[in-house]
Formats: sequence, structure tokens, C-alpha cells
Amino acid sequence: MKILFASSEVYPLIKTGGLADVSYFLPKAVQKLGQDLRIIMPAYRDAVTRCTNIKFLDRLSIDNRQVTLLETQLPNSTVKVWLVDQPEFFDRAGNPYCAADGSTWPDEVQRFAYFSLVVSTVAMGVESLNWRPDVVHCNDWHTGLVPVYLRHQQQAPAVLFTVHNLAYQGLCSYATFVELGLDPALWHFEALEFHQQLSLIKGGLVFADYVNTVSPSYAEEVKTTDFGEGLHGVFRARADSFCGILNGIDTQEWNPSSDTLIDTNYDKHSLEIKHKNKTALQRTLNLTPSNKTVLLGWVGRMVTQKGIDIVLSSLQALLQRNVQLVFLGSGDKHIEQQLRQCADKYPAKIALLLTYDEQLAHRIIAASDFFLMPSRFEPCGLTQMYCLRYGTIPIARAVGGLIDSIIDLDNQETNKHSATGILFSKKTSEGLIAAIDRALSIYDKQSVKKQLQTNGMSTDNDWANSAKQYLAIYQQIARY
Ligand code: ADP
Ligand code: GLC
Repeated sequence: MKILFASSEVYPLIKTGGLADVSYFLPKAVQKLGQDLRIIMPAYRDAVTRCTNIKFLDRLSIDNRQVTLLETQLPNSTVKVWLVDQPEFFDRAGNPYCAADGSTWPDEVQRFAYFSLVVSTVAMGVESLNWRPDVVHCNDWHTGLVPVYLRHQQQAPAVLFTVHNLAYQGLCSYATFVELGLDPALWHFEALEFHQQLSLIKGGLVFADYVNTVSPSYAEEVKTTDFGEGLHGVFRARADSFCGILNGIDTQEWNPSSDTLIDTNYDKHSLEIKHKNKTALQRTLNLTPSNKTVLLGWVGRMVTQKGIDIVLSSLQALLQRNVQLVFLGSGDKHIEQQLRQCADKYPAKIALLLTYDEQLAHRIIAASDFFLMPSRFEPCGLTQMYCLRYGTIPIARAVGGLIDSIIDLDNQETNKHSATGILFSKKTSEGLIAAIDRALSIYDKQSVKKQLQTNGMSTDNDWANSAKQYLAIYQQIARY
């Protein structure tokens, strides 16, 4: 089967979050199942500098703009990546969505509408490429117009649209709808109009052959007003062609027994040496080195989705306990500032790293005793699965993919032979602190703690499982 996989970010070429991880590991896993998959993504300046062996494929004129198609290879794999090189839109400093100063690109909708147009052109077959997909797998709003552009084409490939995060919808004005030259009939609430705005995500949700999101629980949640971001009705209407597939993790790249980015390798049979990673990190970050102090880790975007504000408002109470905290990430500037003030005041207890750093992410995940994920909503979440693999116990809110990937230890510990972490419901600091107190009580009971770690390390979250479910959908929707 031929699959064109369209994404706005692909690790390790360009990454702002979990979408990039999925766009790296899922294509590799689908290829391993014997399928012919090509990735297509914008040729961002930073991504191009990370590519080796770029090959020229073709130069096309699409919608009065010149665009060059380039080919490279996904690092450490044989998956082909096609780069859409349109310098006016993509040859810029900064990440896919923001300029270096953090401001959103003013033409973000135009850029991704154009990317979608190129993807749909390639999907219909470009003579020089001599390759036509059976299925186009689109991801998030950036590719939402692909099924819109394909909908009236003869013998168009089928489209699967995956929602990674409903909080980002690609909204803009009616003026942009007109500027993009979209069919006026699409300005309708059952098409692209959303409360008098153009919604690119609706293109995917309404016109794709099949829609999925990245966990079964989030797939249920988005059908409710609490989580649906105004689109719950659209998901409900798609009941027959909508499901949730839990993301996976790459168990080669995330393997504590061979990870070259961490200080000491270990596995579930040598858990007693895991603490060496904690000591090394405490030294690096100038935290007081002690194995008796519980290390709580955080790696991720510092935005309200992730509940970083809940952690912030719990800090004073947490500092009364025998814990240290390490934060890696960036996001909301106001929250960053408040965390900075706390970290400056308590340097022996709080380490704050306002940066993006792959190695530090691995080191923190290996070193921490517990990992905080008090998300308000979480379509899937990958870091908790990395933590399970590293014997680092997640403390997470019972939402979305966190419910589907973590088994909560009950209060009587009757399920200690299967539990892998701690889940809590209340999205308040009281809820988080109570969950951390449960964790601290486990820390004192070495055998329960070790059992939870071993259970987590034995969990099979390999991408191979999810890739098989995606393949089943590709086969179901393909029209050949
Ligand atoms: P989301 O996509 O919502 O940000 P996920 O848990 O799905 O959340 O994925 C986040 C990914 O980004 C993980 O691979 C995580 O390790 C990584 N990550 C997030 N922030 C950082 C950071 N500051 N440095 C390194 N890796 C990070
Ligand atoms: C999104 C979600 C996250 C998910 C990731 C990859 O960014 O916030 O929960 O794991 O996409 O699907």
C-alpha cells in the first residue's frame, strides 16, 4: 500500500512537541509492516540544515507560485521525506509556527493552506515522481485543507485525518477565506465555517474519509462540550468513521539499557542503579545531592494545557516536603517568570531549565523518581510512556491518553501487581498535592515502589501495535 504522510513537524528535522515524534516513529513502524510510505513536510530553513543528501525532484508552478520538491531520507531509516520548498513561506528563522521572538506568523493560515495545496497536488500524482498514494494521512489543522482540495478530483486517494490537539484549529477571518479562493459553498457550518471564522481543522474533520485522534479516551472526550472546543457535534456526527488510536513509543530510542544520552544504563533487573542518574543530575544542576530526597521531574511545554500553573500554585506547599523539582521546557512567559523567581529563591530544591534539550529530557526522565503531568486535557501524551519505560513513576491527571496509558494504584494497593502510576481527578493544587503525597508514601515503601516501576517497564507501548491499527484503517478506506 502507498501512503503519503503529511505533517508540519518531523523529528529530528524539526520538533516543537509530540506531533514530531509521531511523524518520525509511526512512518518507520508502518514501513516495517511492509508498506511504501513517504513523508511530506515544509522545507523550513532549520529543517533543511539538518538534512543530508538532499536531492532535487521537480520544480512546479502551483497557484501562481514556484515550488521545488526535494527529497531526503528520514535520519536513521530508509523512509523518504519530500520537502516542499517555497522560500517565501518556509525559508524563515524560527520554528514552524512562530518567529524567533515567539510571535505567531501572521500568515500562518496562508502558509499551511499552500502546503495543503501542494500535498493534494502530489497526492494526485506528479508525473516526474512516478508515484501516487492510495491513502494520504494528514495530521492536525496544518493539513486540514488536503481533503478539501481533493474532494472533487477524479480517482483521488482516500484521506485519513488525525487530530493530535484540538486546541489548535487554524482559525482566521472570512477575508482569508476569500483570499484563498475557496469555493463559496464551503462557507457553511457543515463545511469550513466556524462561528464566522474559517476553520482549517474542520476541513479535515468534515471532508476526510476517516478521522482519528491519538487515544481512545480523548476520542470519547472530544464528543463532549467540556473537551470538544466547540466541535463536539462534528465528532458525534462522525461516529461511524472516527476512533482513537493510542500513540506508541520507539523502544529503541527510548531504552534505559542502551540510551547513550543518560549517565548510567539500567533495566528492570538492575533498578538499584537507576539512582546514579539522579545523583549525576543533582550534581549537574546544583541541587543538593541526596537519594533520600524525592526528585519530581517535568519535561514539556509550559502552557495551561499541561497544568504547569497548577504546579506553580502548589510549589510553596511542596517545598515543605522532602522533595526537589526539576523543570525543563518553555512556554507561557508569565509562568516562566514566576518559576524563575521560585527557582532563584530555592536553588538547592528547584532547577529550572527554560530551554529545549533532547539530552536533558532523557536525563531528567531517567533520573526522576516521579514525573508530573497534571494536564487539563491530554490527547495522548508521550512523556508518561517514556517515563514508564525508564521506571520513573508518572503522577498524572486522569484525562485522555493518560487514562489509557497509566494504571492507577488504588488506595488499598490491591492492584499493585498491575498498577504503573498515580492518577488524580481534581484540576487543582489540592488534587495535585494529594497525589504527590500518595507518591511520597509509596517512596517510603520500597517494595511497592519497585513493583510499580517494574510493571511500568514491562508495559508494551511499542509503535508496532499502533501502526497495525493505522494500517487497518488505511486498508479500510483505500479505494482501489
Ligand atoms: P505535546 O505534544 O502536547 O507537547 P507530548 O507528551 O505528546 O506533548 O510530546 C512532547 C514531546 O516533546 C516529548 O517527546 C518530550 O520529551 C518533548 N519535549 C517537550 N519539551 C521539551 C524540552 N524542553 N526539551 C526536550 N524535549 C522536550
Ligand atoms: C499533541 C498532544 C499530545 C500528543 C501529541 C502527539 O501535541 O498535546 O497529547 O501526545 O500531540 O500525538
